[in-house]
Amino acid sequence: MSTTDILKTRVMGHRGAALLAPENTLSSIRAAARAGVTWVEIDVYLIAQGGLIIFHDDKLDRCTNGSGVTRQVLPEEVAALDAGGYFSSDFVGEKIPTLLEALDCIQSLNLGLNLEIKHDEADVESIVPAVMDILQRHWKDNDKLMISSFNYEALQLCYQINKTRHLAQLYENIPQDWQAQLESIEAYSLNCDYACLTKQQAQAVKAAGYKLLCYTANEPQLVESHWQWGMDAIITDDPTQFASFID
Ligand code: G3P
Ligand code: MG
Repeated sequence: MSTTDILKTRVMGHRGAALLAPENTLSSIRAAARAGVTWVEIDVYLIAQGGLIIFHDDKLDRCTNGSGVTRQVLPEEVAALDAGGYFSSDFVGEKIPTLLEALDCIQSLNLGLNLEIKHDEADVESIVPAVMDILQRHWKDNDKLMISSFNYEALQLCYQINKTRHLAQLYENIPQDWQAQLESIEAYSLNCDYACLTKQQAQAVKAAGYKLLCYTANEPQLVESHWQWGMDAIITDDPTQFASFID
């Protein structure tokens, strides 16, 4: 397990700051920074021709003016999509960032990055080496980077490629064998759904020495007890709601 305390904040923006600007866009990342957060979570998705974009959904429909399967879209087609109009007319013209564009933006704002690897089961061996290669070449500060995934196999592959990265295992419900999984990849943190977490689970995670992050709460009262249980940070769509928790 990594013992370096890289996460010196209690508030992390989710998909940038998804309630303040269109999710997973550069505007969303900038909105998070303006709200005072020092870390953002974004999702990376593999598309056609090995392209890597910042996007959450399996389909293009919800967050763009396009439609169809995200995995099959071509990079030049992505570049033509509008990813802001769904959110508000103020953001028409907003683009889906490539992974590289997002890394540049986040580093220029001096933020920490929680990069969540999205996956199609069959694609783990395609997306993980591609993401790790770009990070190797374009991300400078290892202590400002956390790589997360719901997919344990994806994190195992990250670990095989680079044992120094800070890995975060994501769960909705925490499974019985969570500790064995985290130990095997020398994880930095366990990131889970605040609504599924129990006090007993939280205390066990902390007793085992891991950071504990919870997603996605947008009102402080929803996680009042979680701080008492040992939760280290909240991942939120609206960091302005947690302004008093930002140092
Ligand atoms: O990393 C926390 C959170 O982003 C996981 O769920 O579906 O919002 O990517 P999701
Ligand atoms: Mg995510």
